[in-house]
Amino acid sequence: GKERRCHSATSMSAFAAGEDIEVGDGTLLHFVWVPEVRSTQDAMRTLLASSRRDSLSQKGVDALALSAGSQIQGRGTSGRAWMGGAGNMFLTVALPARTLSALTYPITLLPLRMGTLIAREIVRILPHPEAQARVQLKWPNDVLLDDGKVSGLLIEMDGTSSYYLVGIGVNVAQAPHVPSLGADRGRRAACLAQCGLEGRGGDTARDLSIAIAVSITTWLGGSQEDTADSVIADWEKLATWGKVYDLRDGGAVVPLALETDGRLRVRDLTSGATRLLTAEYLH
Ligand code: BTN
Repeated sequence: GKERRCHSATSMSAFAAGEDIEVGDGTLLHFVWVPEVRSTQDAMRTLLASSRRDSLSQKGVDALALSAGSQIQGRGTSGRAWMGGAGNMFLTVALPARTLSALTYPITLLPLRMGTLIAREIVRILPHPEAQARVQLKWPNDVLLDDGKVSGLLIEMDGTSSYYLVGIGVNVAQAPHVPSLGADRGRRAACLAQCGLEGRGGDTARDLSIAIAVSITTWLGGSQEDTADSVIADWEKLATWGKVYDLRDGGAVVPLALETDGRLRVRDLTSGATRLLTAEYLH
């Protein structure tokens, strides 16, 4: 048929290369790299449904990460597609729901905490302070470079609701063309290569995926000590206050403040009224 050949999510040989990475205080991350997948979310679901899951939990693995060199059928939020150019980063980190049930704050703050960790790792690999200052967070969890989106986040559950699947895409080498009309319309894309990553040896996307997976796993290890106040304070430091947000229904709002459950208080530019936004509402 016309389908490109790829390491299918059901082929266990695709999962052969995994490594265990101990972060900080003995928290264990199992990191898997595959050359190509349809979606890292589905590949992670398959990995979690396989017998490998038992041996990993016996070893005391706390978080699992699966990263791919390219992704041919990536998903975004609101049923949109996520374009997968070569050299970009595609990562899913599986976090046990049991660990997250001990969080001191509502799970609706998780996207903001994840977005903040991702933005910090993106800042870290940018070579120049001027480039680093161009990185901002758009509510709830998109990372922007100036006005272009460089990273998006999609959180789903695995088949047995035992894991949160945190799916992260970062445009490292390429900024895909994003349609401005139709069902897949979204914000203009940017990529990190626009900030001069030249001179970096090795595989930047793979290195970044390891850095983000390690950062999230390190956070997981200490997540019981994290508080709503620090999630919000960390997020606000990188946030895009003052920028107009275009809503999917055609309206435009400006952000005013973050609620303790992660919702965003905004002012509607047409009516002047304030209201609260819940995630999955914006593009
Ligand atoms: C968004 O629409 O902003 C979220 C994009 C999420 C894309 C990532 S890429 C890795 C993971 N696998 C997917 O199929 N989607 C997420």
